[in-house]
Amino acid sequence: MNKKLVIMSHPLINHKMAKIRDKATNAKEFRESVSEIGALLTYEVTRDLDTKEVEIETPIGKADCHILDMPVVLVPVLRAGLGMVDGIHNIVPTAKIGHLGMYRDEETLEPHVYYAKFPENLKKSLVIVLDPMLATGGTVSKAIDILKERGAKKIKYVGIVGCPEGVKRLQTDHPDVPIYLAALDSHLTDQGYIYPGLGDCGDRLFGTK
Ligand code: URA
Repeated sequence: MNKKLVIMSHPLINHKMAKIRDKATNAKEFRESVSEIGALLTYEVTRDLDTKEVEIETPIGKADCHILDMPVVLVPVLRAGLGMVDGIHNIVPTAKIGHLGMYRDEETLEPHVYYAKFPENLKKSLVIVLDPMLATGGTVSKAIDILKERGAKKIKYVGIVGCPEGVKRLQTDHPDVPIYLAALDSHLTDQGYIYPGLGDCGDRLFGTK
């Protein structure tokens, strides 16, 4: 089983990473940058999407073209995953959106599901799980468990910042699911934060702290 881990280091992504790591960045700029990083990661994540050949009439003549031939489902893990949806949806406007509401018990750090709603046909779709922070890996792993139970066969995980603990957990639980991140940080703190990370992503997106 191939354990694929892609850390997308690119000047545009790295520039926006500096912005979202900066504690002085306000919520508006933070939201915009998270969304834009999501869009930039999509380029690599969708590289192997199925396409089909079509013939298109240009104003001058006929052109052989390739159009997408595979449904895409985005599944943001609430709430921080919502911050990545718009950027990706702009690039893949035909994508359907599922929602998975999960929270981490602050003491045990274990994930709990409180809401799950997905479009039909997960089986035939590329299902992209979105959660900006791959911390313990428990939340994303559980999200993927649920999607597999609902029939999803081709799943990819896309986040922004990860740490070795989260990557290891996800690769152990779901070695078939490729991981795409913009950065891989040093470690997880005792409080469950990624170090140096960017703080609480949900709070920074939605201004709750
Ligand atoms: N979730 C966050 O929002 N930030 C972290 O550093 C870890 C988990």
